[in-house]
Amino acid sequence: MNPTWIEKKAYASNARLREARKNQVYPYFREFEQGGIHTSVGGHAIVNFSSNDYLNLTTDPRVKAAAQKAVQKYGCGLGSSRVQATTVEHVELEERFARWMGFEACLLFTTGYQAMLGTLMSLADKDTTLVLDNLSHACILDGTFLAAGVPKNGPEVRFFNHNSAKSLERILKTREREKAMVTVEGIYSLDGDLANLPEFVGICDRYEAALLVDDAHGSGTIGKMGHGVLEHFGLEGRAPIVISTLSKTFGGIGGLLFASREVVDCVKHSARSFMFSASLPVPVVAAASTVLDIMETDGERLVSELRQKAEYMRHGLVSAGFDLGDSSTHIMPVMCREERKTLFMHHALYECGVNLVPITYPAVKLGEERLRLNVTLGHTQEDLDHAITLLKEYGEAFFVLSGEDIGPLDTSLDA
Ligand SMILES: Cc1ncc(COP(=O)(O)O)c(C=O)c1O
Repeated sequence: MNPTWIEKKAYASNARLREARKNQVYPYFREFEQGGIHTSVGGHAIVNFSSNDYLNLTTDPRVKAAAQKAVQKYGCGLGSSRVQATTVEHVELEERFARWMGFEACLLFTTGYQAMLGTLMSLADKDTTLVLDNLSHACILDGTFLAAGVPKNGPEVRFFNHNSAKSLERILKTREREKAMVTVEGIYSLDGDLANLPEFVGICDRYEAALLVDDAHGSGTIGKMGHGVLEHFGLEGRAPIVISTLSKTFGGIGGLLFASREVVDCVKHSARSFMFSASLPVPVVAAASTVLDIMETDGERLVSELRQKAEYMRHGLVSAGFDLGDSSTHIMPVMCREERKTLFMHHALYECGVNLVPITYPAVKLGEERLRLNVTLGHTQEDLDHAITLLKEYGEAFFVLSGEDIGPLDTSLDA
């Protein structure tokens, strides 16, 4: 059979994949053989430095035991969406999370991505301007563009320069619609820098804009008790909406919307990604509930330990001469600034049992290629030291530390 246009399109768009596989530098979709920061791929032991399991609670025995118990009671699925498949465990977790975060109400989605899509689509309409940081996560972009695509009721969409108060103010001042919603990330997932909330809250007040904070990477990792970026800056109560996830610190998968009771009720009855997608499995709810128990009793210590480990790593890398961009958190991009250097670094480290996922164009701009390095509580002192030593060795070998050009590829073996 002749290839259809679908086959031709797929073949054309897979050109970069073919090239990477041919050069044996394709680095994605590695198949882990067990959970946790210390795992293996094809029998090869690796320490994962690109995990978002920040407090190492995903494989905590208490969390796994709670999930096992819930499997016995409910099984792994509920066979429908929350509208007709809500359990007492869902509602209890929502109430506990709302109290923990200091909000009136909380709504549990099946993923954080869906929480963002559903919230933006429910709240934005033709009288709204959605204002986004230009480094926004895909879920913020997708939720915005879905909302904008609603016939005759789409909001205006405007972007401001990353973390710039001046740029945000200019956008709010010149917006075309009466209402405005500004969406930012608490910690930027690829850069590890914090949202400029101390300036943004005042600007949002002045221009009567609602502030939505996506704290996927800040919940459970920053703020004295782990409540996230608002607690970190002492700005609790200054953002009417926070969205977060259970897929990083909270041991499983799931999305969280925090807002007033009225707003949560509105989103609950209008968000398509909530109403038309399956309910979060109860074993996952039970796992998150156990992580919340742990945060309530021990959160302050865990957050402080994470900060200490991150500072140790940062000091080691900065002393070695690495450029970590604007990171000030446990998320530290190791800037390589060239695709080949990034891929070579990844492979050399991987062969030595250290996994740092390469982030290249189009996920980041050309010249901003990097390795994703997240410090977690699962990393031992030896893991941190080993990674620093190897990064230094290969950073020199592949000219990442000197910034020199890596030179042309030796293709003699291709012939
Ligand atoms: C900033 C940010 N928001 C939202 C999400 C989506 O979360 P989830 O994995 O729960 O869909 C992510 C996940 O990568 C993220 O990094």
